[in-house]
Amino acid sequence: MDHFLYRDGQLYAEDVPVAEIAAAVGTPVYVYSTATLLRHFRLFDEALAWGPHLVCYAMKAASNQAILKTLAEAGAGMDVVSGGEYARARAAGVPGERIVFSGVGKTREEIRTALEGGIRQFNIESEPEMRVISEVASAMGVVAPVTVRVNPDVDARTHAKIATGKSENKFGIPIAKARAVYAEAAALPGLKVIGIDVHIGSQLTELEPFAMAYRKVAELTEALRADGHEISRLDLGGGLGIPYTRSNEAPPLPVEYGAMIERELGHLGCEIEIEPGRLIAGNAGILVSEVIYLKEGEGRNFLILDAAMNDLIRPAMYEAHHDIVPVIEPEAGAEQAAFDIVGPVCESGDTFAKGRMMPALGAGDLVAFRSAGAYGAVMSSEYNTRALIPEVLVKGDQFAVIRRRPSFEEIINRDSLPEWL
Ligand code: LLP
Repeated sequence: MDHFLYRDGQLYAEDVPVAEIAAAVGTPVYVYSTATLLRHFRLFDEALAWGPHLVCYAMKAASNQAILKTLAEAGAGMDVVSGGEYARARAAGVPGERIVFSGVGKTREEIRTALEGGIRQFNIESEPEMRVISEVASAMGVVAPVTVRVNPDVDARTHAKIATGKSENKFGIPIAKARAVYAEAAALPGLKVIGIDVHIGSQLTELEPFAMAYRKVAELTEALRADGHEISRLDLGGGLGIPYTRSNEAPPLPVEYGAMIERELGHLGCEIEIEPGRLIAGNAGILVSEVIYLKEGEGRNFLILDAAMNDLIRPAMYEAHHDIVPVIEPEAGAEQAAFDIVGPVCESGDTFAKGRMMPALGAGDLVAFRSAGAYGAVMSSEYNTRALIPEVLVKGDQFAVIRRRPSFEEIINRDSLPEWL
């Protein structure tokens, strides 16, 4: 069910008119729907109900504490990839035993912090990292629960910048080397090997690449058990894609994904963890922006928005498509024209869409970028000294600012001048 729908001629976020939020908070602004976040989390949770499992939300997708708390209260764990994310998850009230630590370059400091604060497991990404975790844990006199992330050399058939499961990618340990690495892990002090981790990429729109990777994980589980390791947990990563257009795009559903996992891995009796990010947050958020100018160029018309590439970088970085819809519902059969939809940043790359068919729009009109909840706000920057834009969470007929817009003064005052100036 879509919680961003037109009602009485205007776009709503759940039961709140989007225009009301824009008037109260200003634009650009990210707006999230609580009902969508919870629905998506529950779809995964139910899809794995056939066995012991934990859905660890990949908080890199959208990490505002209000979002984390909403999901954690529903029972979600978190997948973190930095000390900052770990601190944020803890601040949002997520207990350490529900946090898994992924990422290719965990520092000693990050490892120590997580061991002090409590951690469900580290997903080890390389042999040097494994040795450092062993060293830090031993020095602290504790035992770190770990899995090893294996790279199954599977083509995720997604955008090159977000594919991670091929041998040329920097992620994980080649699966062919896994038995040797597990043997070393078992011999190192301060480590308790509990399972296997795999993640092959993001925005996957077919189940087959997952199934291929999971089959390799099943084989490896049997081999490692034969070697005497206790493999009781499988972390299967994230990556299930979402529809970015409302046409005929239909990636597999969480329920189909869960059934495939049961088919491939259910017989092993392991606890299953998954780390979905995009599917939980992506269609739970929109970016609302105002048209500043309609500029009529030679042979093309530009809609210049107050949102820019620094607020939503996905189109510039991955050629990503986001549906852009007017907040006031166009009349049925209203005439459409092609627009290049751009932001005010001084780069040609600051283009959200080219030749996009839109109804007549002009200065002052509001538009909404759909499917902007994942990898939107979290990837924004202050390029061009543009303030990070506010985030708003809607729940039914209520809304709250969950990150406010900073003043220019706050931004500028973070600089400090050396004494010679
Ligand atoms: N687990 C690990 C280890 C990951 O690296 C990722 C995403 C996830 C889970 C969550 O994947 P998801 O379910 O969200 O597909 N900025 C890019 C996406 C980068 C994904 C990075 N890793 C984008 O805007 O498309």
